[in-house]
Amino acid sequence: MCGIVGAVGFISPKEYVFKGLKMLDYRGYDSAGIAYFHSGIKIYKDVGSVEHLLEIVPEDISADIMIGHTRWATHGAPTKLNTHPHLSFNQRICLVHNGVIDNYKEIKKFLLDKHYSFYGETDSEVIANLLEYYYLENNDVIETIKKAMSIIKGSYAITFFTDDIKDTLFVLKNASPLVIGLGKGFNLVASDASPMIEQTDEFIELDDLEFGYITKKEVKIFNKNGDEIKKEPIHKDIELISHDLKGYPHYMIKEIEEIPQTVNRIISNYFQKGKYQFDPELIKDLQESDHIIFIACGTSYHAGLVGGRYFEKYDKSASRFIASEWAFHPTYPGQKPFIIMISQSGETADLIHCLKIIKKHNLKNLIITNTGGSTLDRNCMYSLLLHSGVEVSVASTKAYVAQVTLLAMLAASLDKDIKVVDDLRQSLDVVYDIRDHYKPLIMKVGEEIKDKKSLFFLGRSFDYFLSLEASLKLKEISYIHSEAIPGGELKHGPIALIEKGIPVIVFITDPDTASSMRGNIEEVKTRGARVYTIATKSLSRPEDTIVVEDYAYYLSSVAISSIAFYLAYYVALAKGLNVDKPRNLAKSVTVE
Ligand code: M6R
Repeated sequence: MCGIVGAVGFISPKEYVFKGLKMLDYRGYDSAGIAYFHSGIKIYKDVGSVEHLLEIVPEDISADIMIGHTRWATHGAPTKLNTHPHLSFNQRICLVHNGVIDNYKEIKKFLLDKHYSFYGETDSEVIANLLEYYYLENNDVIETIKKAMSIIKGSYAITFFTDDIKDTLFVLKNASPLVIGLGKGFNLVASDASPMIEQTDEFIELDDLEFGYITKKEVKIFNKNGDEIKKEPIHKDIELISHDLKGYPHYMIKEIEEIPQTVNRIISNYFQKGKYQFDPELIKDLQESDHIIFIACGTSYHAGLVGGRYFEKYDKSASRFIASEWAFHPTYPGQKPFIIMISQSGETADLIHCLKIIKKHNLKNLIITNTGGSTLDRNCMYSLLLHSGVEVSVASTKAYVAQVTLLAMLAASLDKDIKVVDDLRQSLDVVYDIRDHYKPLIMKVGEEIKDKKSLFFLGRSFDYFLSLEASLKLKEISYIHSEAIPGGELKHGPIALIEKGIPVIVFITDPDTASSMRGNIEEVKTRGARVYTIATKSLSRPEDTIVVEDYAYYLSSVAISSIAFYLAYYVALAKGLNVDKPRNLAKSVTVE
């Protein structure tokens, strides 16, 4: 979602800001802009890509301070006027903002009454004007920020400069990440550390309701009362986001094909010399808890569904919740619940909201994330990293498999069950087999379904969880409506939608449910559905579409999820869609 970069005193702010915006573009955006000071405030912005922005910005900018922003529209359509940076009514304040201001309508009304007018529809423009209003009143930026922060409700990471203090960037933050990068003769700011890692490995992270300023020589941070606070810089080694497609046409297919590496890396990180290598304190806390609560969103939630089953296998009761649901109706079954949150990005706002509740109730918690240094990694009690390498494509693939792999090992470690590791290794043979032999067949299925308006995935148990993920992936990037239905649930309603020619994709890999699934196939075939069956060898029938070698059935999400990923990929490709950056979606969902 939205990204912020800013530089003061940097040798070439333009170079840094543009490179930084490019490095943030994995978060997803629909418009981009920059602003700098050179005989007044200069702003360039437009709908479209950072490359397009670069084309409209003059070659020879000289500036001491510069801010940049990529916007993912929330308040107001993706138009040039709504694009950041925003300039206040009297052109005194120039600002970029990530987050959502809950009470912007009230603030706007207050400002309208004071004869302010607005060119766009964003909450961010309102904040630029609120800051200006108080700045004109007291001519003191620190007092202005304090006053504005006492009024603004919601999430914000804001960077701004004024028309009369030409060497300073001001920053303020609540519930949306903002990081300062420390340099020699320059200082930087960004919405996460990744755009700054070529320039520095020393960072100051602002906490909620802190604000401050950076010049090329100093950084000062204050609490909401305006008292200066000393913050120790932290050192971070952050993996540079690789923009190297390594010969692949898209990140999505590159990342699907990195699944075996990802699984192997998790095994070698968390299993050595025949033993699991998890923090003993974490294992003790998990063992002592009487209920595990999984909380996550989207694909990570689907991994949590599978993970819940793994813990149940080792006699732990478990519940699973979608973060945005749990946050508004938190329940804690059991006397000693333990919360496991799952997030590829570690920055998902819905989950950060949950963490606040979890901390308020002093509940033990763990985050499973791919992003070291992310908000959830830093703030949860325990953190297990997925070590999957950066996932660029909006559609999560290798991270999902990594989450399931790690959950399988973590649950098994409670009982020192090391067979899971062998099962995982064996499941990789299937992943390789799909990669090497089944892509043309999957592409053919993709061609057949690409013009359909709607389709269904069917499965039971672990195959149902996989169906949910397959369905999400297909709708995300191919824009085909699809639903995942547990086989047994068909007759309770969804079967009404089965008509001649509708594709139904069925997973049959679980010996316990295979014969019921065959019954479901008959039910939909009789009503004219075009059935594509994916089965393991020992459960297969001659008419099945794809038959893979047997594997430990509880690992469907590891062994055969790539079939679903390739299918979504080939359908999107056949429809000529933007595979890596589907419409309306962002990689990192930093607003609730
Ligand atoms: O970064 P997270 O794992 O917390 O993100 C959660 C979802 O937004 C994410 O999984 C989303 O559903 C993906 N685009 C799925 O491909």
